[in-house]
Amino acid sequence: MRELGLEITRDYRNKAPHFVSVLNGAFIFTADLVRNINLPLTLDFLALSSYGNAQNSSGEVELLKDLRLPIAGKDVIVVEDIVDTGITLNYLMGYLEARKPASVKVAALLSKPSRRKVQVPIHYLGFEIEDAYVYGYGLDRAQEDRNLPFITSIKS
Ligand code: IMP
Ligand code: MG
Repeated sequence: MRELGLEITRDYRNKAPHFVSVLNGAFIFTADLVRNINLPLTLDFLALSSYGNAQNSSGEVELLKDLRLPIAGKDVIVVEDIVDTGITLNYLMGYLEARKPASVKVAALLSKPSRRKVQVPIHYLGFEIEDAYVYGYGLDRAQEDRNLPFITSIKS
């Protein structure tokens, strides 16, 4: 968190980035990340869900909760818990870009590159991981275990 926060603080010097946190999974990551950023910033949330069972994106993304604040002209930083197939983030990038922000970058805690179906940009990445289902630290396992203060995995 300290390293990512420092990098963002340096890159956005003299700017005031607008964070868009993707609920629910990114709530703890977002809380820790923004506390490591030494800049004026604003923050908003949206909630996305992909249809299908708990461990596989179906490819259809549903907007469960919309942004509250306009993003036109803003330097947006998306905060996502994990990029798996990339389908969710790809949908979100299209959604945000249609609203004419000045820029959009992505901060993701985790990425599983071996699972990618759609190529998406990740500008600030915590950790690259192998193909395993992970949970804890905000990430769920069938809506449970988000409160675990660490990340653990089920081997697939
Ligand atoms: P994608 O659309 O396949 O990239 O999936 C992205 C979304 O699925 C993430 O925002 C997570 O909410 C969820 N997800 C993907 N992999 C995992 C995992 O290993 N643990 C918990 N949630 C996951
Ligand atoms: Mg998510």
